[in-house]
Amino acid sequence: MPILKVAGLGEFEVPPGKRLVKALVEEAGSDQLHACGGGARCTTCRVRFTEGEPNRMTQAERDVLAARGVTEPGVRLSCQIACDADMTVELISRLEGSGRKDQGGAVAENIEPEPVWTDR
Ligand code: FES
Repeated sequence: MPILKVAGLGEFEVPPGKRLVKALVEEAGSDQLHACGGGARCTTCRVRFTEGEPNRMTQAERDVLAARGVTEPGVRLSCQIACDADMTVELISRLEGSGRKDQGGAVAENIEPEPVWTDR
């Protein structure tokens, strides 16, 4: 099983292919935001990779990062990533301190919208 390391929280085994945003909430127990419910619309699910950043990227992630001007290296949308290898991330968009009332809408099992994969 892939190992997800989350700075400040620890290491967690994740079912292969699980959406990273769901693993951050369900396995790691973090307060990661996901305001749009994992639909590649809000960017609140962004995390910073320090190891194991996936090489592939959905077209939806590419489009919303560009539209919002998110260009920082290693910053990716956790709702658009499947845990198919070991990864290490830092939480940079958490409920704590956000002023929001909750982490966000329910996140579906599979990546939405239907992924069109591109190279990072
Ligand atoms: S872009 Fe909204 S939860 Fe990922």
